[in-house]
Amino acid sequence: MTRKPEPVADPLFNVSGSTYLIAGAGGGLGHVMAKALAERGARLALFDIDTTALERVGAAIPEALTQVADINEQAALSEMVQLTENRFGTIDGAINAAGLLPMAAAATFDEAVFRQCIDVNLTAAFLFSKTVAEHMRDAGGRIVHIASVSSLVANPEYAAYASSKAGLAQMVRVLAREWAAQNILVNALGPALTETPLTRDYLADPGFRRNAIAAIPMGRLGQAADLIGALLLLLSPGGGFITGQTIYVDGGRTLV
Ligand SMILES: NC(=O)c1ccc[n+]([C@@H]2O[C@H](COP(=O)([O-])OP(=O)(O)OC[C@H]3O[C@@H](n4cnc5c(N)ncnc54)[C@H](O)[C@@H]3O)[C@@H](O)[C@H]2O)c1
Repeated sequence: MTRKPEPVADPLFNVSGSTYLIAGAGGGLGHVMAKALAERGARLALFDIDTTALERVGAAIPEALTQVADINEQAALSEMVQLTENRFGTIDGAINAAGLLPMAAAATFDEAVFRQCIDVNLTAAFLFSKTVAEHMRDAGGRIVHIASVSSLVANPEYAAYASSKAGLAQMVRVLAREWAAQNILVNALGPALTETPLTRDYLADPGFRRNAIAAIPMGRLGQAADLIGALLLLLSPGGGFITGQTIYVDGGRTLV
């Protein structure tokens, strides 16, 4: 009888012992990413503006550092980096999983809501990158943002969100070029519509849900767990020559 070989931990995708800072860690995607990294031996500093969501992910990963923080404020970003360095002595990678999804017809889109979406999804993503990169100058590091299929796809009522995510994908390319020589790799994941607190209310509308699924060639919504393979690639030795990319993990959504 032939025995199945034991699974081996592949050093190519190893994150064990590395330190990752995650903003938006209490969110639907951030929480699952944090758990996946913790299960693989990573050391984590978790930040979110939402105290309850942060407490939930902190309870799931008691060994992680947790702190309420607004990524839209430079002082909070600097504190996030400082706290992480104080606790762990290093930052190997930083993940920005914070974001907002306001939807409205362009003709009636509220100016303040539009500006807030650009502020959090794009401007704060820039400040986040700049602040963590400052601390990666000597040793290099990985920065991963969450872009979206909306970086490419033009859905009605997504004027603010799609603009912010298209900007984010292009910003990742520019930062990747600027920081490549310092071995700071900057990439993004591009998920398809996934049921999380961000999308739950929209997906409660049966028509919206049906159309969303119909637009995905693989015939289902995304799941947070779908992102973990690509996330591990972008953080681990296996991703050491990948920079400036948005990796679409979308069941084919951006092919149509
Ligand atoms: N869920 C999807 O369908 C989907 C698809 C594509 C891309 N994305 C992107 O993935 C990221 C995570 O989305 P999600 O579905 O997990 O959303 P979510 O709402 O579940 O989580 C987002 C988290 O970000 C936090 N946050 C918001 N503003 C913040 C701020 N100023 N400072 C710190 N934290 C802040 C929220 O408190 C929340 O915990 C977002 O950028 C989103 O645009 C989501």
